[in-house]
Amino acid sequence: MSDAIAKPAQKVGTTAVQRCIVPACAAQFGIREQIYVCPRCGGPLEIEIPLELLKSVSGLHERWQARAASHEPRDRSGVWRFRELLPFDDTAPVVTLFEGNTPLYDAPRSAKYAGLTALQLKHQGCNPTASFKDTGMTTAVTQAKLLGARTVVCASTGNTAASLAAYAARAQLQCAILLPQGQISPAKLAQSMDYGAVVCEIAGNFDDCMRLISELADVPSIYIANSINPFRIEGQKTVAFELLEQCGWRVPDHVVVPGGNMGNSSALGKGFDEMLRLGLIDRLPKISIIQAEGSAPLAHLFAGLKPSELAADAALPDDIAPVTHPRTLATAIKIGAPVSWKKALRAVLRTHGSIITVSEQEIADAKAIIGRDGVGCEPASATTVAGIRKLTAASKIHASESVVGVLTGHVLKDPDYVSHYHRGTLSFESVTAEGTPKPVQISGAFRNAPEKVAANKEAILKSLESRR
Ligand code: F0G
Repeated sequence: MSDAIAKPAQKVGTTAVQRCIVPACAAQFGIREQIYVCPRCGGPLEIEIPLELLKSVSGLHERWQARAASHEPRDRSGVWRFRELLPFDDTAPVVTLFEGNTPLYDAPRSAKYAGLTALQLKHQGCNPTASFKDTGMTTAVTQAKLLGARTVVCASTGNTAASLAAYAARAQLQCAILLPQGQISPAKLAQSMDYGAVVCEIAGNFDDCMRLISELADVPSIYIANSINPFRIEGQKTVAFELLEQCGWRVPDHVVVPGGNMGNSSALGKGFDEMLRLGLIDRLPKISIIQAEGSAPLAHLFAGLKPSELAADAALPDDIAPVTHPRTLATAIKIGAPVSWKKALRAVLRTHGSIITVSEQEIADAKAIIGRDGVGCEPASATTVAGIRKLTAASKIHASESVVGVLTGHVLKDPDYVSHYHRGTLSFESVTAEGTPKPVQISGAFRNAPEKVAANKEAILKSLESRR
């Protein structure tokens, strides 16, 4: 695809700004200023794309679609093929692993389980490092190169780390990751080691790691790649564009995502909003966020909002009560103080979605059902199907509506969990109301344990017969 037709990207790239999302502040900063929160009021920052420059550009759909068949490196990326809406110009030193372009699967068994006629699952686990983080890391690490950073860093429950480590290796930047010791899946840790990152295991939880990261924000040679960084969100928002393309630009009624640090939900909200404002769609899908019961600060806040505070344009609360000791076996979303909660809440309110919790047993069973569709995912991703089932039972989703669940990580991200579930040995350390630890056994309701079979044909056929 020739660069001649990429001109709008050039203009957007040079005129986009960083803006504080707090309405009373709304301060504006240049696109190459190395900041993560508003220097004036401490509020979250967001990239403001000058959409008016793109309104007169015809054939954007066709252009994006055509790039999917091109071999130019940027066109082969499911993020950079939407570059008209990214805050970079054509000279940007793009760091890509050809992320994005992930499948949208029909999932009939999961649909039936969730009480729906049909359900589609957008599998972000089919990215180069097997999680949705890659779509944001390509833009964040490209920005790190532009800023001349020497080291990129992040706090992580595992996937952000694996993704950043890979993109940093591609960009030949040093990478340091801060992980809560003993609380992340060994498979994710192995990825970061293999990609050559400096792995710092911290005696604390993810929220402690995140606090440490913010202390590094004033070191000019270090660039922070957590989703507090608005350039991450720019890459991740393209998932909304790709999903709409896969749906033939018919807007689904509901898009349902897991919630941890809240970057993903924020990004999807921004992506759909930009499509609406460009006139490429005529309504927004309802965005709903699902949290694990023991790590659900935003669901708690949402449940306590008054009807007037649920309005699409309601003022956002100033604070969120953190969960001091977050608990869940879905370690990817074991987060008590999400940094992007304001942007995520804004997306849910604007689209009239919901924020709810699901139990450990509900997550485990939904995960097994997603597996039975031949799709599979890691535990955090299964909150979607578990949550959709609850929302359908509560008539927040109707059986005949179009629903997309976003699966955020691959089934092989947490093989220990999968194996324990199917062998009936999965257990969870809960706490009583008084705060004393209480182990809870998760039942393998859809378990599928291996069995010992004698080494002969008859025994194999007998085993098959007994399992029909
Ligand atoms: N699903 C998976 C598989 C994740 O790894 C994460 C977050 C989420 C869902 C939640 O997404 O934070 O955008 O709301 N993982 C981060 C990490 C925190 O460090 O890998 P979110």
